[in-house]
Amino acid sequence: MQKILMVCLGNICRSPLAQGILESTCKKHNIPIYVDSAGTGNWHSGSPPDKRSIEIGEKYGIDISHQKARQFNTLDFKKFHKIYVMDTQNYKDIIRLCSNEEECNKVNLILNSIDKEKRLSVPDPYYGDQDGFENIYLLLKSACEQIIKDIRI
Ligand code: 4NP
Repeated sequence: MQKILMVCLGNICRSPLAQGILESTCKKHNIPIYVDSAGTGNWHSGSPPDKRSIEIGEKYGIDISHQKARQFNTLDFKKFHKIYVMDTQNYKDIIRLCSNEEECNKVNLILNSIDKEKRLSVPDPYYGDQDGFENIYLLLKSACEQIIKDIRI
């Protein structure tokens, strides 16, 4: 079974939503998968997702309210087949922790699933308004659909 980790900075806005979207889309297609999420930082460890992420999930029928934030740790390189990071800073922070090429190769920007050339980031919505959360939902939904197509090949 594929094990996939979603990573952002705080693990309360983007990566919990990415986790929820991938889990629920896989469930719909009967694809067995294990998905988790983590933050590069530890400020929010133990907290549920940001209220605005929970709300945008609810709007699209995805419940992420039970999730609890945690910090990324190097054992995650062993546990997961793929690690999707939300932005280029997350990428730098995680790549710095890899101990070999195999581990580094597991790490990818999530939006590279849609367009490899552009190396786009999922914008950090924390200091913005609800529109930012709608935007990240749509970006993550497209990325997760492509990730699922890639898993099925
Ligand atoms: P996330 O968003 O990385 O998508 O969970 C953030 C959450 C919290 C903070 C920054 C970004 N913060 O500065 O506390």
